[in-house]
Amino acid sequence: MQQKILVARAVFPDVIDRLSQYFEVAANQADHVYADQELVEKMTGMDGLLTTGSERITAAALAANPGLKAVCNMAVGYNNIDVDAATRSGIMVTNTPDVLNETTADFAWALMMATARRITEAEHWLRAGKWVKWRYDTLLGADVHGSTLGIIGMGRIGQAIARRSSGFGMQVIYHNRSRLTADLEGRANDAQFVSKEVLLRTADHVMLVLPYSPETHHTIGAAELALMKPSATLTNVARGGIVDDVALIAALRERRIASAGLDVFENEPALHPDFLTLPNVVLTPHIASASESTRRAMANCAADNLIAALCGTSPPNLLNPAVRRKE
Ligand code: DGY
Repeated sequence: MQQKILVARAVFPDVIDRLSQYFEVAANQADHVYADQELVEKMTGMDGLLTTGSERITAAALAANPGLKAVCNMAVGYNNIDVDAATRSGIMVTNTPDVLNETTADFAWALMMATARRITEAEHWLRAGKWVKWRYDTLLGADVHGSTLGIIGMGRIGQAIARRSSGFGMQVIYHNRSRLTADLEGRANDAQFVSKEVLLRTADHVMLVLPYSPETHHTIGAAELALMKPSATLTNVARGGIVDDVALIAALRERRIASAGLDVFENEPALHPDFLTLPNVVLTPHIASASESTRRAMANCAADNLIAALCGTSPPNLLNPAVRRKE
């Protein structure tokens, strides 16, 4: 009997066609966002799932579907999946690392530069008809070239961001769970490992690229924002919840830091309404990996993982190798 899979959100139609060569596919090309219980029901009888970072795959959802063999996330982050519960239930979990490193690093730079040089604020000002004369102090921003870039979370994407900084003559400092090898530090524009406190006090531009977990919840809160320079910017391309949004809103409103560039939010897509009232924040809707070719690569990577998982080979991006395959 053909195995059944659920593709929980809309994806490129050719990826559905590809999966249909192997499985009976329940697709959601209408892109309905399933509520938690609805998702559990849709999972019933499925051998595999292709999910995005938006679906919460909880221990309860996994327990309700004992026949499930694999959950393949179309994202590098996988904080939406209870991986420990999946491992205990013998369910393989995969993600899509590497294929998005360079695209996400490009976007992180775009967001940091827009934030430092007030690009979106300037465009709103211009569109509002406020540009009536040249002034020496119109929309003054912060320089990026020659400044100090502080990266918190120096994984593959953090290193790709650091590499780009050599063209801007920047100094790179970073904080990470563990220090990189000297070779990797060298390739990351001679990045220097420092404590989180030193990074926050020293950096002109702070960039967050760390994974979300209970340990990294509110890595940046009121106390950390208080350490930053009043002229500094903060860019988050990682996950909502790493920053305490209420504390950040207060810091931006009181100009305790200069500005922020945010691609991710607590409770997204329902971002805190006060962000919309602040001129000194650049807001984007979780699109750091959203180039055509990278999103295609992510979808195909998730499909590769699912095909491998259900067809008896080890998926290339297995997150829980301790899992024992279900027959
Ligand atoms: C990722 O891959 O984790 C991106 O944030 C898209 O969800």
